[in-house]
Amino acid sequence: MTDLRKQIDETVAFIRTKTKSMPRIGIILGTGLGGLALEIEKEIEIEYEEIPHFPVSTVESHHGKLIFGILSGKPVVAMQGRFHYYEGYSMKQITFPVRVMKFLGVETLLISNAAGALNPLFKKGDVMLMVDHINLLGDNPLIGPNDDSLGPRFPDMSEAYDRGLLELAEQVALDLKIGVQKGVYVAMTGPNLETRSEYRFLRYIGADAVGMSTVPENIVAIHMGMKVFGVSIMTDECFPDSLKPVTLEEVIAVANQAEPKMTAIMKELVRRM
Ligand code: HPA
Repeated sequence: MTDLRKQIDETVAFIRTKTKSMPRIGIILGTGLGGLALEIEKEIEIEYEEIPHFPVSTVESHHGKLIFGILSGKPVVAMQGRFHYYEGYSMKQITFPVRVMKFLGVETLLISNAAGALNPLFKKGDVMLMVDHINLLGDNPLIGPNDDSLGPRFPDMSEAYDRGLLELAEQVALDLKIGVQKGVYVAMTGPNLETRSEYRFLRYIGADAVGMSTVPENIVAIHMGMKVFGVSIMTDECFPDSLKPVTLEEVIAVANQAEPKMTAIMKELVRRM
């Protein structure tokens, strides 16, 4: 048994002393989905610090926690607080919670993030359903010996974001009369935002939005045979010829403004899954 598998088993055993919940849906509450946490009828919350082998957030003032509860009538497990590569965590640390979710019974992973708009038809505050991604992180959580008990050496990525869930989410958005975009997300390490020339390059290579998360978690979820659905809030416009300075305050303000749209879509999507 690999060290990774042993750690997963230990973490799952610990969580099992706290809850018998068998959620089939896992949620990563990124920027803009904080509000969804309030919609979960909570059974139990476990602080990351308490959980063996979980990375512990050092920079964030609020503590990360794993939330077990019911959303739209379904048992779910949600990560409140996620880990980014720019914080200095390894790819394996960032994705460890996703490994644990799988062994708790999760089959479908719902991920949210904040991203910059590269597609000139998008605007600040838009919600984008992720159809695909480009990994420009320069790293990969699957590098190293493969644990065949977790997944294959060369996982297929032809459907990194589940077509069925994407269609369902489009129907949900239509029924709720919420306009959404669809597009390709490219992951950069950050923490700096990109230069004009980098934005131009990212647009050329086929990306509609740029962010600093989600891709590692997606890769690990796909490795383990999970389905993934992702949604991005466009917090700023990354158009090279009209680029203006962006502040974190603005990014957060736009994310908070768009949050109700994202929360409504996720809630109804879970109901219909
Ligand atoms: N780059 C540019 N703008 C952004 C990003 C990013 O990674 N994330 C949110 N807005």
